[in-house]
Amino acid sequence: MVMSMSTNHHKSPQSQNMHQWVSLRPDISAICILLAIERRRGVGIKDLKDLTAPIILQNPKVQSPYTNISAYFENSTMSKVILVTGANSGIGYELVRLLAKKPEGHTVYLAARNASAGEEAQKKLHAEGLKNVKFIQLDVTQPASVHAAKEAIEKQEGGKLDVLVNNAGIAKMEENQSATTVQIDVLRATMETNFFGLVQTTNAFVPLLRKAALGSGSAVILNVSTDMASNAYQARPEAGLHVVAYNTSKAAANSYTIALFHELKKDGIKVNAVTPGFTTSKLNMFTPGGKSLEDGARCLLPFALLDESGPTGKFFDENGKEFAW
Ligand SMILES: NC(=O)c1ccc[n+]([C@@H]2O[C@H](COP(=O)([O-])OP(=O)(O)OC[C@H]3O[C@@H](n4cnc5c(N)ncnc54)[C@H](OP(=O)(O)O)[C@@H]3O)[C@@H](O)[C@H]2O)c1
Repeated sequence: MVMSMSTNHHKSPQSQNMHQWVSLRPDISAICILLAIERRRGVGIKDLKDLTAPIILQNPKVQSPYTNISAYFENSTMSKVILVTGANSGIGYELVRLLAKKPEGHTVYLAARNASAGEEAQKKLHAEGLKNVKFIQLDVTQPASVHAAKEAIEKQEGGKLDVLVNNAGIAKMEENQSATTVQIDVLRATMETNFFGLVQTTNAFVPLLRKAALGSGSAVILNVSTDMASNAYQARPEAGLHVVAYNTSKAAANSYTIALFHELKKDGIKVNAVTPGFTTSKLNMFTPGGKSLEDGARCLLPFALLDESGPTGKFFDENGKEFAW
């Protein structure tokens, strides 16, 4: 039997042997081993289907198990490598916990600018049995720190990252943020973290996300936003909370999210902005009345774990509904 390959990747000597074996013995175990080898080499799901289709067509006996293999890949039950910035506390920390608890056994990088706070957070999650959480030092405003984190994850995870959650943020709510009297240094500091920091972190990790998308068919960037970043929402006559430094920096990040979506759609990388909604946290000086940190993280969870069929280029509210930019 001759196996036709509609894929354009090159076969390694190991996979070449497997291709020969499968052509001589086209049964399900041979196909499974071949698929496993090819996936480890980063061959995408679509290519794997193209690869196995000719074998299936010529061997009706393997059709039923093939359906299972297909479902296995499509349900994206495979474990992912995930990075959450600003995750030593708040919504980011709770998101790391929720992600690490998933049965798929994701590897979740808990990033923190302060090493002792990050290590402490990792210790707490390890004590809960979540040994798949790994602390990494990452200050989004420091290029050297971002670069070092990218190098470390690249080395430890075979060059790939499936999901980047840009969660780190500051609000400087204790400062005057009126449109006419805000101090420029307050604006600058907020922009530094919420906008420049988010951009430089994203750009550092895009090569790793591209590599992941090449292998599995998709990767994800989730930018944690706020309804106060929506120009449409804030322009309503009845809108309040014009916290100028915070809102403009988050609006800039939203605008960047749109550009990023356009640029990365050809690579299969999903890019969305999601707001957890009002959540009582350090960011708002623990203002009462918000949802719990865990509930805030729950709003983000499905958007971190999108698969190939998930949405991209959208802004979602705390209920998972599309929200105006
Ligand atoms: N809370 C809300 O009502 C609400 C609503 C909408 C959106 N959000 C968004 O949700 C995200 C998380 O906020 P949160 O409410 O969980 O607040 P939080 O508890 O203050 O968490 C913010 C996290 O970001 C980290 N961070 C700040 N500057 C950083 C930097 N330069 N590099 C790396 N990490 C940095 C903080 O680290 P340190 O501990 O070292 O300061 C902290 O871990 C933010 O993007 C925020 O804008 C929050």
